[in-house]
Amino acid sequence: MSDVRKRSVSPAWLRDAVFYEIYPQSYYDANGDGIGDFAGITEKLPYIRSLGCNALWINPCFDSPFRDAGYDVRDYKRAAPRYGTNEDLYRLFEEAHRQGIRVLLDLVPGHTSEEHPWFLKSGEAESNEFSGRYIWTDDWFKGIPGRPYVGGEYPRNGTYMLNFFKCQPALNYGWLRPTEPWQSAMDSPEALATREAMKDVMRFWLSHGADGFRVDMAGSLVKGDDEQGTGTCAVWRDIRAMLDREYPDAALVAEWSHQQAAVANGGFHMDFYLDQWDNGYHTLLRDGKSSFFRRDGQGDIRRFLSDFMPRYEACKGKGYVALITCNHDTPRACPALTPDEAKLAYAFLLTLPGVPFIYYGDEIGMRYQAALPTKEGGYTRTGTRTPMQWSGGKNLGFSQAAPERLYLPVDPSPDAPTVEAQEGDPDSLLETVRAIVRFRHSQPDLAPDADFEPLEIPGEPRALVYRRGGLYLCVNPSGKEIRLPKDIAGRLASQSCLFAVGVRPEAADARRLAPQSFAVFGE
Ligand code: NOJ
Ligand code: CA
Repeated sequence: MSDVRKRSVSPAWLRDAVFYEIYPQSYYDANGDGIGDFAGITEKLPYIRSLGCNALWINPCFDSPFRDAGYDVRDYKRAAPRYGTNEDLYRLFEEAHRQGIRVLLDLVPGHTSEEHPWFLKSGEAESNEFSGRYIWTDDWFKGIPGRPYVGGEYPRNGTYMLNFFKCQPALNYGWLRPTEPWQSAMDSPEALATREAMKDVMRFWLSHGADGFRVDMAGSLVKGDDEQGTGTCAVWRDIRAMLDREYPDAALVAEWSHQQAAVANGGFHMDFYLDQWDNGYHTLLRDGKSSFFRRDGQGDIRRFLSDFMPRYEACKGKGYVALITCNHDTPRACPALTPDEAKLAYAFLLTLPGVPFIYYGDEIGMRYQAALPTKEGGYTRTGTRTPMQWSGGKNLGFSQAAPERLYLPVDPSPDAPTVEAQEGDPDSLLETVRAIVRFRHSQPDLAPDADFEPLEIPGEPRALVYRRGGLYLCVNPSGKEIRLPKDIAGRLASQSCLFAVGVRPEAADARRLAPQSFAVFGE
């Protein structure tokens, strides 16, 4: 066992975690009103467990005007009535725990809805307890250079900063280096009060059974911060210290995609590796013909590795890269990838060092619905948020409501993939995902912090061999057979194939990688 594996990153349950992300609007509508709900998720927990997933992340499910699908929170401590009551959510935690599933909620610490009572109070002309909760200039005619801001809406003599959409004013955690009288220092009473208010929200849900949080725009808290996130990281370290003292089993995953900041400096247990700016992750699944997992494309694994390795190194001994099949902001990998291409992509993502997150429906190859009009601030993201496809029945089994009442229409294509059609078929994407997750759980060498060593094949960037502990994993998404060089083939020679996708394990050859295959060799 290597040094890295001996050091453990708390909480320990993350070492065996496989997450499933649920967009609650679209998962399962238990009461037939056309929108997904807590009771629906609770009913489907056995299915989630059957995938081998033992943890959930649920997108924001709090009271909200839903101008950004719930990322505009109006009351942090109240479940959105359209999903059920707080008690229904507590019941979901309980039932999930009974079935061995942890539940992360989505914490939105950087901004609230413009309808949040804190914000309405902060817009009043007279100074009050909430005047410093958001970022306001000190004159109605003074803007905030380089940042989005709004004026002319409230009696207060100032303009206020936005964090994302116009409906999402930025909460005030202070500025790294204040240069204007209206800019708070990070340790000012008002900035500290915001931080304490957010801790209070966290304690509230943790004390009711939540297991932690996915943290929205985790890098956005302190304004005027530097590239390393020095100010924001200090805030998160303080919050992490609170968790370590009071809720040591709680986990935090950052939406930052900056592992050096979030994990190495900020105390996050995990940080998502997002599909952004043509980065390495983007080159795997979503780069058109140049995607690594496109059979007939011009993929090049070096484009991934050069971006991934520094992120992986930054996390060592401190936390994990969180690897996603997709999320609610990103186009689904299918139909750009075929189900067979997706099988190899998931096999790779689920065996890299890190903690995997499967986006609901990706396990059956649900397809991005490009033509949909925007819903609740989704814009081009809407096509990734359509209802889960359970069966060939009414509304593909998502809801008993009339089709025109659905939150979003279901995939209209006659061959829309469903759980029902794939269940029990060993060649299906669904059963392949189940098999990969099972294999992952069975191998300590696939734990998120077990050794990782990529072995590039000289002159052949269309395939990769990588070592995890004592296992050698070979992925060849291309349509051609690829010969391994002698030194790599030599390392595999005495081992047998323990698991394979796209080729029968008995037929997997450690000298020649079969076209479109994934094979794991070990003792
Ligand atoms: C990131 C979330 O994932 C996205 O859906 C949301 O619109 C923005 N943050 C703003 O909260
Ligand atoms: Ca419902």
